[in-house]
Amino acid sequence: MPPVYINTGQKPVSSLSPRNPEIRTFHQSLPHYCPTPLVSLPELAQQLGIQYLLVKDESSRLGLPAFKILGASWATARAVASHVGLELKTNAGNFEGRLSLNLLAAAAQAANLVLYAATDGNHGRAVGRMAKYLGIKARIFVPSMVDEEAKSKIMSEGATVEVVNGDYDQTVVYTKLAAEKHEDRKGLLISDTALDVEDEIPQWIVEGYQTMFDEIEEQIIEATGQNGITMCVAPVGAGSLASSVVTHFERTPRSVKPAIVTVEPESAACLKASLEAGTIASVSATYTICTGMCVGTISACVWPILKDGVSIATTVSDSEVDEAIQTLQRYGIRAGPCGAASLAALRKLAKAGGTYLAPNSVVVVLCTEGERGYQFQF
Ligand SMILES: Cc1ncc(COP(=O)(O)O)c(C=O)c1O
Repeated sequence: MPPVYINTGQKPVSSLSPRNPEIRTFHQSLPHYCPTPLVSLPELAQQLGIQYLLVKDESSRLGLPAFKILGASWATARAVASHVGLELKTNAGNFEGRLSLNLLAAAAQAANLVLYAATDGNHGRAVGRMAKYLGIKARIFVPSMVDEEAKSKIMSEGATVEVVNGDYDQTVVYTKLAAEKHEDRKGLLISDTALDVEDEIPQWIVEGYQTMFDEIEEQIIEATGQNGITMCVAPVGAGSLASSVVTHFERTPRSVKPAIVTVEPESAACLKASLEAGTIASVSATYTICTGMCVGTISACVWPILKDGVSIATTVSDSEVDEAIQTLQRYGIRAGPCGAASLAALRKLAKAGGTYLAPNSVVVVLCTEGERGYQFQF
């Protein structure tokens, strides 16, 4: 299969929910909130033949080394509030987040809630961190390929880690059943992928990523003096992040609509396979250094948005990702594999030629995680 797929079925996405200003206010109220940097790399831009290359560096987000806590925190807050019947509301537009976190904690503890999540690392750690803030337990389930380092980071949040003898997709199903079996329905599944198009919590995860784009909108003007973005490149696992990219740029009209480019590992390209098939198509996802992107089936609730909103779907090999990691490091960005995959994809597009990139292109690449250990498997 060629590594670049042009989505000829792209069209305006219908029925998007409006931007919710409370999401950013909520994140601002959490410990360690600070906008992550948007770093301009002029030398690399010149090599790629474009005007601006801007890297949104999520290597330190709300005290964790990946963007996932944006979605996990908002979805957990909404899920707990909804479970206990609390209204997650601002006080005259002024979100008293710490107070709300305290309120949520008290309610979650009184209700004896336990958070559940399936993960290949970052999402589970983020859910574990939220459980810690709320003073409740978290049971995190991981597929057997997840390494010891990732498991111990999840446990460092106080969560328990249970290994499922299977891949990520099997872990998702197993975790759902485990949460449903939790006594008195007190198991709250904070899933970042939906088995059913109607699942609410995965949609709240997508909503939570909005804060990243709110920041980019401010930072792009500082970095370039104008708000034009011609392309945004996002890594894809279950597709929630890419869905929030599409949603943001659909909701924020500009004179030139940015091309939305997705990147997946060659060994787990479930979105690309689905776009090619015109319907959700599962692949058998095999090992990649991009652990967070090792997913065999796209989330059901984001598929309708991605099938219409993605412009170009690409795949990259582990060695291309490794090269991109080294390059970013030379420019002072300490990216992990999923983070560097976006630059690897952009390089692939530049090499492919065509009309994707031009001397006036302004490209934002989402670098979703910080440096971490990884091992090649041949
Ligand atoms: C660091 C990192 N980047 C990208 C992704 C892919 O995000 P999504 O599953 O929303 O497509 C993940 C998913 O866990 C991740 O951990």
